[in-house]
Amino acid sequence: MEKVRDVIIACDFGSAEQALEFLDRFAAEERKPFVKIGMELYYAAGNEIVRELKRRGHKIFLDLKLHDIPNTVRKAMKVLSALDVDMVNVHASGTREMMAAALEGLTREDGTRPLLIAVTQLTSTSQQAMNEQLRVEGDINDVIAHYARNAREAGLDGVVCSPLEAGLVKEACGPDFMTVTPGIRFADSAADDQVRITTPARAREIGSDFIVVGRPITAAADPVAAWRRCVADFCG
Ligand code: C5P
Repeated sequence: MEKVRDVIIACDFGSAEQALEFLDRFAAEERKPFVKIGMELYYAAGNEIVRELKRRGHKIFLDLKLHDIPNTVRKAMKVLSALDVDMVNVHASGTREMMAAALEGLTREDGTRPLLIAVTQLTSTSQQAMNEQLRVEGDINDVIAHYARNAREAGLDGVVCSPLEAGLVKEACGPDFMTVTPGIRFADSAADDQVRITTPARAREIGSDFIVVGRPITAAADPVAAWRRCVADFCG
């Protein structure tokens, strides 16, 4: 898939009905939004919702964050690749071998494959929790840069990170290494439970390639207008 800057709507719904009802609002749009299906919707609605959204013309980021032994991840990725999704992810902490196996499993016979990105450290993991519970030593930003370099060496396309970390990832891995960043809010909207947030326009300046936006669009009075505003601010 091409790496063209875009807004990805996080479809964090608990059923196919809710997700489809929400996306029906975009039926008149010539270009259907890029959407993210996470664990909640996938575990509730499975491959059928993925196929239905593909039929409707959406690009899909299947956010399942795989983390297992390399052989299992390779085989699981082969299954996801056949689903024709556009972007998938793994945990970088699964090792370079696991990430390389994921890439292998994803690559189709004709050489095409979905984009593959890695989670470095979850944004819910604090410096203290990383050091004390996970026993990973050092500064969390250094660890994020190190995991991002591991992902690049394994041949992945990029990482998921906070928009505020996108600059350090680009510095560590080069400008072509993608950053996919949640934690986006309009300047005039609520932060909800997100802490390290920024606006679509600022995310673009810092170097995000894709922004993942949930509640500022899904909970807006007019979701289509909110999506268009994000696209205008981020994609220009
Ligand atoms: O509603 P909101 O815009 O906060 O949604 C952000 C989306 O990005 C959610 O699906 C959330 O799970 C996801 N995400 C995140 N932070 C991460 C990784 C994923 O907010 N580090």
